[in-house]
Amino acid sequence: MRLWPASIAGRTFLVLLIGLFAAQVVGLTIHAVDRVGLQRAAQGREAMARTWAVWRTVVTAPPPLRPDLIETVELPEGFRASLDPAPFVREGAALPGPMGRRLSEGLGRMGPPRLRPREVRVGEAPGGGVAAALRLPEGEWLNIVGRWPRPQPWSSPAFLAALAVMTAAVAGLSFWAVRRLTAPLRELAGAAERLGRDVSTPPLPERGPREVAQAAAAFNTMQARIRRFVEDRTAMLAAIGHDLRTPITRMRLRAEFVEDEGVRAKMLADLAEMEAMVAATLAFARDDAAAERAVPLDLVALLRTVADEANDVAGREVVTAEASAHRTVTARPLALKRALGNLVGNAVAYAGSCRVRLAQPEGGMIRIAIEDDGPGIPEDELERVFQPFHRVERSRSRETGGAGLGLPIARTILRGHGGDVTLANRPGGGLAVTVTLPA
Ligand SMILES: Nc1ncnc2c1ncn2[C@@H]1O[C@H](COP(=O)(O)OP(=O)(O)O)[C@@H](O)[C@H]1O
Ligand SMILES: [Mg+2]
Repeated sequence: MRLWPASIAGRTFLVLLIGLFAAQVVGLTIHAVDRVGLQRAAQGREAMARTWAVWRTVVTAPPPLRPDLIETVELPEGFRASLDPAPFVREGAALPGPMGRRLSEGLGRMGPPRLRPREVRVGEAPGGGVAAALRLPEGEWLNIVGRWPRPQPWSSPAFLAALAVMTAAVAGLSFWAVRRLTAPLRELAGAAERLGRDVSTPPLPERGPREVAQAAAAFNTMQARIRRFVEDRTAMLAAIGHDLRTPITRMRLRAEFVEDEGVRAKMLADLAEMEAMVAATLAFARDDAAAERAVPLDLVALLRTVADEANDVAGREVVTAEASAHRTVTARPLALKRALGNLVGNAVAYAGSCRVRLAQPEGGMIRIAIEDDGPGIPEDELERVFQPFHRVERSRSRETGGAGLGLPIARTILRGHGGDVTLANRPGGGLAVTVTLPA
C-alpha cells in the first residue's frame, strides 16, 4: 500500500504505465512467437534442402566411394551425416512436431523417382535433435542428424531496446497528459483555499475542458452567493443599527421628563448602554462593508503597533510584545489590527496588562499568544463570550464600557482570514488567548 501514490496524477500515471507496459509485453510476445514460427519453417526448408543435397551426392556416387564422400560433404553447423548399417530412427518412432512430419513427407517425394530413397524415417535423434534416415538402394542407411539453436526472441537486444523506448515514450507522454489533466483540480483546490481566507477573492477563469469549465463556473457561482449572503447580512446589521438610533434619541429626550430621580438615572444609563451597543454594531458593519483588500503585511510590525497604541492610551507600559523575526502574512490590515486590538484591549481592561508573542507555528498555522494574569473566564463561559453582547456577569457590573462585541468581532475577522481565536484559562491564573492565521 505504501507504493500506491496519494495523488490522482500519481495513481492515474501508475495505472496507465502498468497497463501500457503489459499491453506492450503481450504485443511483443505475439510478434516474437510469430517470428519463432517463421524461423522454424525456414530452418525446416533449409534442413530439407541440405539433406536432399547430401542424399543426391551419396546416391549418385559409386558405392565404394561413398564412405570417403560422406566425410567431405559440406554441412551447416550442427549437422552430421554418416553411412550406417542401421537407421538412427527406430521403425515407427514418433516424428517430433510438424517439422518432422514435413521433413519425412518432403524427403520421400523429392527429386526424380529413380533417385528417391527406398525408405525415409524422421524422428528424434538419440542424443537430441532431429534425425533423418534415408535408405540407399544397396540397403545401407544415410543418417543425418541436425541440431538447431533454440530461437531466442527475448534475448535480442532490439527487443529490449524496443521495450525500453516504448516504455519511456509512454511514460513521458502519460506523465505530461496526467499532469495537464489534473492541473485544474489543483487550481480549484487553491481557489477554495483562497475563498476560505477572503470571500472577495477574484473568480476562477471559466475555460479549459468542458467539465473543468463547468466546475469553475459552479465554484464562481457559489462564491458569488456566499459573498452576497455576507454582504446582505452586513447591510441588514447596518440598517438595524442605524434605525435604532432615532428611537433611542427620542427615548432619551422623554426620559429627561421622568420625575423620579432614581428611575431617570437608571433609564438614562440603560439608554447609554443601548447607544454604545448600536454604535459598536454600526462600526463593525461599516468596517466589514468597506471590503478592504488583503495585502502582504508584516505581522510583527502590526503586533508592535497594537501594543504601542495600547501603551499610549494607558500612559505606561501595559503590553509587552516579544517578537523578533519578521513574519509576512496576507491580510486586511485594518481589520486584523482591529481584531488584535480588541483582544489586547480586553486583557488590559480585565487584567491590567498582558504579554503578546508569536508562538511556534503548528500545522501550517501562525500562532499569536496573548497572555494576562487577570481573573480569567469561568470554563463554561469560554465559548459563550464569543456570542454578540454576551459579557461575563462581573464585567457587566464593573464599568469597563464594553458592549460585548469585541470577541465576536475579533473572531469574525480572524475566521474571515482563514484563522481563528480561542480562549483558555492559564494554569497559574489569567487568560491565554490564541490567535491562528494561515501561514
Ligand atoms: N482577558 C480577559 N480576562 C477576563 N475576562 C475577559 C477577558 N477578555 C474578555 N473577557 C470577558 O469576555 C467578555 C466579552 O468580551 P468582549 O466581547 O470583548 O466584550 P466587552 O469587552 O465589550 O465586554 C467580557 O465582558 C469579559 O467578561
Ligand atoms: Mg472587549
